[in-house]
Amino acid sequence: MIQFRNVSKRYGKKTILDNLTLDIKAGEFVILIGPSGCGKTTTLKTINRLIEPDSGEIIIDGKDITKVDPVKLRRTIGYVIQQIGLFPNMTVEQNIAVVPKLLNYSKEEIDAIVHRLLELVNMPYEENAKKYPSELSGGQQQRIGVLRALAASPPIVLMDEPFGALDPVTRDSLQEEVKKIQKKLGKTIVFVTHDMDEAIRLADTIVFMNDGKVLQVASPEEMLQNPADPIIKSFLGKHMNHENNAANLVASDFMRAKVLTVPKTKKTLECIELMSRRDVSSLIVVEEDDTYLGTVSVDKIRAQGKAGKEIKELVTVESMTVTRNSNAQEAFELLIASPTGYVVVLNDDNTVAGLITKTSMAKAMGEALWGEMTQ
Ligand SMILES: Nc1ncnc2c1ncn2[C@@H]1O[C@H](COP(=O)(O)OP(=O)(O)OP(=O)(O)O)[C@@H](O)[C@H]1O
Ligand SMILES: [Mg+2]
Repeated sequence: MIQFRNVSKRYGKKTILDNLTLDIKAGEFVILIGPSGCGKTTTLKTINRLIEPDSGEIIIDGKDITKVDPVKLRRTIGYVIQQIGLFPNMTVEQNIAVVPKLLNYSKEEIDAIVHRLLELVNMPYEENAKKYPSELSGGQQQRIGVLRALAASPPIVLMDEPFGALDPVTRDSLQEEVKKIQKKLGKTIVFVTHDMDEAIRLADTIVFMNDGKVLQVASPEEMLQNPADPIIKSFLGKHMNHENNAANLVASDFMRAKVLTVPKTKKTLECIELMSRRDVSSLIVVEEDDTYLGTVSVDKIRAQGKAGKEIKELVTVESMTVTRNSNAQEAFELLIASPTGYVVVLNDDNTVAGLITKTSMAKAMGEALWGEMTQ
């Protein structure tokens, strides 16, 4: 478990991490994502004390990491960066063995680790162990970089855009491998990317950062369904449009925007007249400032209305309403339950935005499935 408690970091006047509080659970694959310069790399480097915060605490498994010797700390935390950073004058085997050697593992142990890890990424020992980094492709080098970070079996692995420089095919296969390894070995991985595809593919939890702050912590699914901020929405981009279309629809997507409203001071006879001309059986009644008051049905006016009376006396106020950003499913369920056969959609300022009827709902669903419908 890694806990950030009010962690701040400034360079000069610029705040890079702004009172960051965040829990990373043991065994989770956590992705830090956000625009360039938002503080992802800085956050990552505070975990292994390559960067020291100005204030706040980082606690790993209950221990304040400022109380742990940084060199010792780093031996328990694997670290993979984009520019691989293999030692060019060491073989693949020697590169993987760096940390186990520092930790004084026996030669047999180290041998076993190198064999097992190379097997894990389909790079057989016999063919690869004695090669130098310059004899490997970029993708193979990056694989070895990942293995090196895993060699001493650290419970935590930090990865900073480890696959950013790879071609899409190699990236895909490495993503798969890392995910497999993480599941199999139960590692806590904190992984930085600015690629939402990668985040959705790999993450148990996505932490979206902007300007040194956390905007949202959610599973990929939750984030797709409920992005907490427009900037997250724009990062989700294409994922929002198809993969999760239905989940992202809101009430206003299903409403008819042109609706007939009348002020509450309107007289009953005028209302009856209006309804019959427009061929509707009820009206939406608003206050003087256009905010929503309620509805009134033709039946109710007929039963109780007296000529010359103001409509406000006959208004039913408990009719079904949703706000325009309400989840579409909620609106749908209300519609099904609605005795009037419609649901009123309100703007944030409580004015009327539109009306969801069975017809408007059916039309919008048709459009979602088959594109724009003709009338
Ligand atoms: N040593 C430093 N001195 C001054 N400013 C710095 C230093 N290191 C980082 N910064 C600034 O801190 C901010 C956050 O940097 P960081 O590297 O954490 O961003 P990032 O989210 O990883 O971005 P990217 O996606 O581009 O890698 C940036 O504005 C950067 O310019
Ligand atoms: Mg970075």
